[in-house]
Amino acid sequence: MASWARPRQIAVYGALVIAVLSAAAVGAGTLSGTSHDAAASVAAAKPLPTVESDVLSDNAAKSREREQRRAEYDALMERLRTGDSADVPEELVSAPPADAPALPGFDGRPIDCRKLRCVALTFDDGPGADTGRLLGMLRAANAIATWFPLGAVTLDSPERLRAIAGAGMEIGNHSWSHPQLTILSDRGIDSQIRRTAREVETVTGKKPYLVRPPYGAISRRVTRDLGRLAAPCILWDVDPLDWKYLNSDYVYRSVMRQVRPGSIVLMHDIHPTTVAAVPRILKALAARGYTFVTVSELFAGKLQPGHVYTDNHGAYRGPQTSRKD
Ligand code: NI
Repeated sequence: MASWARPRQIAVYGALVIAVLSAAAVGAGTLSGTSHDAAASVAAAKPLPTVESDVLSDNAAKSREREQRRAEYDALMERLRTGDSADVPEELVSAPPADAPALPGFDGRPIDCRKLRCVALTFDDGPGADTGRLLGMLRAANAIATWFPLGAVTLDSPERLRAIAGAGMEIGNHSWSHPQLTILSDRGIDSQIRRTAREVETVTGKKPYLVRPPYGAISRRVTRDLGRLAAPCILWDVDPLDWKYLNSDYVYRSVMRQVRPGSIVLMHDIHPTTVAAVPRILKALAARGYTFVTVSELFAGKLQPGHVYTDNHGAYRGPQTSRKD
């Protein structure tokens, strides 16, 4: 919480600097006036016309706002360097739904993950500078994935999220500013999720319903709040710790070692090392017979609000027999 005091401080200093600069400008005008004729002196001493003052204070306000947004964004990026780590209370994880109805808003392909080796790749914390390149890689492999963007990042670069939606990818909700939801109030959780959902809907025209809590941090209270927000809680079973090991080889090997039919793979497209690993991951998974699906498709849209999902391993029955993979 203390870190949020900083942007406000910066804004106050900014206002002070502007006030001092304005005073200096008036002083300089008066001085230059006295060294010439009287008319010039009077003109220099005159206050600026109202319209110009308004423009100046408007510009100052805009630049303060920009400065504040930049400071908030930098603070957010700093916190993201600590990455996500799953600390999931087992008792909160739900069994994949059997006969539940598909969620309203589900418009995925009718893919049968009982027969196909499905895998859902997911990208958190972005979109980032390499997201466009990543979309090209997915397109080249005819693959689909799910994004869990941050509201604050989306506000900063809406065109990137628009490109993700335009490429037919699924888009969820990873909160506004990546706080640990378990230490927020119910109102705080509500605001983080709703504000992001509104932003994503404004940019893409579609309201996201899947929520991935930052750090995978959940509690009974968080899942109850997500239930009230009609949001299924999506975690993961494959974590290559790509934010920690900024190494493409490591990310590739780690994903391939952990993946099973029905897996949800956690990655972060804000790291160039992760994006660089994706073509190899796509190629190797396709060679092992995997079908790339969105998170919703992995569950045929039958997800329940307030329930927690890490994978759908149970769905896969094998090609012909009930052989376990
Ligand atoms: Ni995250």
